[in-house]
Amino acid sequence: MEYKIAVIPGDGIGPDIIEQALLVLHKVGDRFGHTFTCQTVLAGGAAIDATGNCLPQETIDVCKAADAVLLGAVGGPKWDGLPGDQRPERALLGIRKELGLFANLRPAMIFPELADASPLKAEILEGGLDILVVRELTGGIYFGERGTRETDMGPAAYDVEMYSEGEVRRIAKVAFDMAMKRNKHVTSVDKANVLDSSRLWRRVVTEVSKDYPEVKLDHLYVDNAAMQLVRNPRQFDVIVTSNIFGDILSDEASQITGSIGMLPSASLATGNFGMYEPIHGSAPDIAGQDKANPAATILSVGMLLRYTLGLSAEADAVENAVRAVLADNIRTPDLYTGSETLVGTAEMGRRIAEKI
Ligand code: IPM
Ligand code: MG
Repeated sequence: MEYKIAVIPGDGIGPDIIEQALLVLHKVGDRFGHTFTCQTVLAGGAAIDATGNCLPQETIDVCKAADAVLLGAVGGPKWDGLPGDQRPERALLGIRKELGLFANLRPAMIFPELADASPLKAEILEGGLDILVVRELTGGIYFGERGTRETDMGPAAYDVEMYSEGEVRRIAKVAFDMAMKRNKHVTSVDKANVLDSSRLWRRVVTEVSKDYPEVKLDHLYVDNAAMQLVRNPRQFDVIVTSNIFGDILSDEASQITGSIGMLPSASLATGNFGMYEPIHGSAPDIAGQDKANPAATILSVGMLLRYTLGLSAEADAVENAVRAVLADNIRTPDLYTGSETLVGTAEMGRRIAEKI
């Protein structure tokens, strides 16, 4: 088959890791008889530098015409001084909204080969860890009404958290569908003891759960969820939550695994369309130095093959290749503990591609 992939290398280590991910993608193509036609487009700081706009219309058009989007990372200190609405990060929010990517899947799992990397005590993680955070991505406070006004305490700024029943219902369905393919347990995270938007969230998630009698549903307040994630993370299977709570909890969950350089993510629209990117950021301090771990981006290619293209054998091949290289004790600097074989970005990518 022939597939069209829009590629956004972005900023910082983005181009370094994307190069390796494309190497692996094309290796999958050779091995399984597919053609991946990749078109590279600009977003974030790179787009600001080239066009003055963090998300050029051409980028949106190319992404919309593609089967899927592969993204490196955006942002960096160079653009930190820009006003909020012109920062590279706005490109991400714009792409999510323009492409209707309402469901963000962020797996946090421990690779057996990297079990020691977690900052948590071994006994807390005994038996492994495999959590899927399902974050609502196009609603809530990120996209709500915002503004400024005068108050008797001086000028004030506000951002509104608002969710419609429809928005909650569609993300809840994604979470329950995922749980059906996993351990049939959904934990919905909100702040329903304080927020009306959370009370609506909880009511709608509970309604949706009636269609999934096999799935166990729990509700946790976000403060408690943050605590439970470090106290007993193994209690979780699928966590479904709002845009801002998901932003925070997915970082926490990924940190628990100790290998943020290994974790991919998917942002899905209705249908099969999706954008795939590593969970980590643009790490400008090591950009262009052949130090970044390309594995999260390569595993994002795996998710792309699985979720958008429906190519599960190909996706398995990518995941197995990453595991095989870890089992060979090959490590990039972020994973290196002193006794393994230390390699750079390009060598890691080459070794993974070789195992496909
Ligand atoms: C993320 C990031 C983004 C977000 C930023 C860069 C806009 O933190 O993808 O989690 O908050 O969604
Ligand atoms: Mg974040």
